Parts: sequence; C-alpha cells; structure tokens
Amino acid sequence: METDLVVFKDSPIHGKGGFARSTIGKDTRIIEYVGERISKAESLRRCEGNNEYIFAVSPEQDLDGNVAWNPARLINHSCSPNSEARIEGERIWIVASCEIRPGEEITFNYGYDLEDYKDYPCRCGSPDCAGYIVAEEFFERVRNRPSLP
Ligand SMILES: C[S@@+](CC[C@H](N)C(=O)[O-])C[C@H]1O[C@@H](n2cnc3c(N)ncnc32)[C@H](O)[C@@H]1O
Ligand SMILES: [Zn+2]
Repeated sequence: METDLVVFKDSPIHGKGGFARSTIGKDTRIIEYVGERISKAESLRRCEGNNEYIFAVSPEQDLDGNVAWNPARLINHSCSPNSEARIEGERIWIVASCEIRPGEEITFNYGYDLEDYKDYPCRCGSPDCAGYIVAEEFFERVRNRPSLP
C-alpha cells in the first residue's frame, strides 16, 4: 500500500509502519488520518473495548481510524517523532515536524496518558525512548516509575 509520499511495509518498531518515499519537508501534510465519525457516547463504548485509533475532533464527534481505508492507522509511535497529528478544523493530518529523509520511518507521539501505561511498552529505538508509549509530558514520570501510584 502506498501514497505519493508514504509506503507502508514491515517496521522494525512494530508490525507495519509508514516510510517516506522521498524527502518530505517540514510542515508538509503527509497523509490525512481518516475514519468513521462517531458520537461521544459511541466513542466511550469503543474506548472501553480498548480501541487505540480514536481521536477527538470536536465537542460532539470523535473519529475512529480503525478502518481498512485509513492507511495512516499503521503509523507507529516514537518518543523522538518526526511528525505530529494535527487537528485542522474537524480533520486530522499527520504533518512533518522536521525534514524527513527518504526511507525514514514516519512516526508521531501517540500522546497517551498514564492510564495502564505499563500495558504499552515502547520499542521505538530512540536514544531518548521513555520505555512506554506516553505523551512527552509524562516521560520523566515513567522513567522514574517508583513515583507513580
Ligand atoms: C495504531 S497501531 C500502529 C500500526 C501497527 N504497527 C500495526 O502493524 O498494526 C498501534 C499499535 O502498534 C504498536 N506500536 C506502535 N508504536 C509502537 C512502539 N513505539 N513500540 C511498540 N509498539 C508500538 C502497538 O501495539 C500499538 O498498540
Ligand atoms: Zn520510545
């Protein structure tokens, strides 16, 4: 599977991932994160079933990206990412946060909170890896785990 900018294939981080097909400039919209638009009530129900693909896009609606027609769902997390998920209006784009070289894996920080963080060990391979998939604001707390409840 591929787009103009991204090819999806096996990743050293986990399963499949997205890789740059050519140099991607900083601030480029790499791919739109699409999916099913659902109500907050339906989103809560799906999140209780551990759906990791849901984004909040407005006060009324969430977007569930766990659909075959959303290749962006395959993009892995990194503690030193080269992209970010940006909400623009009610759409979500994966946007380059720096220049990305051809062949480099495209990653963003999933921004998870600390709930059940131990269930999400990180294998991004970055020298700055926090060890778990969490938002950057929690890195020091998970590195210094005894301080967590
Ligand atoms: C949205 S999917 C990403 C696509 C996934 N690689 C695949 O092939 O289905 C999210 C899942 O990928 C895995 N994953 C993503 N980033 C990871 C990372 N940095 N370390 C370990 N597992 C990761 C986790 O299992 C996570 O629940
Ligand atoms: Zn990591």
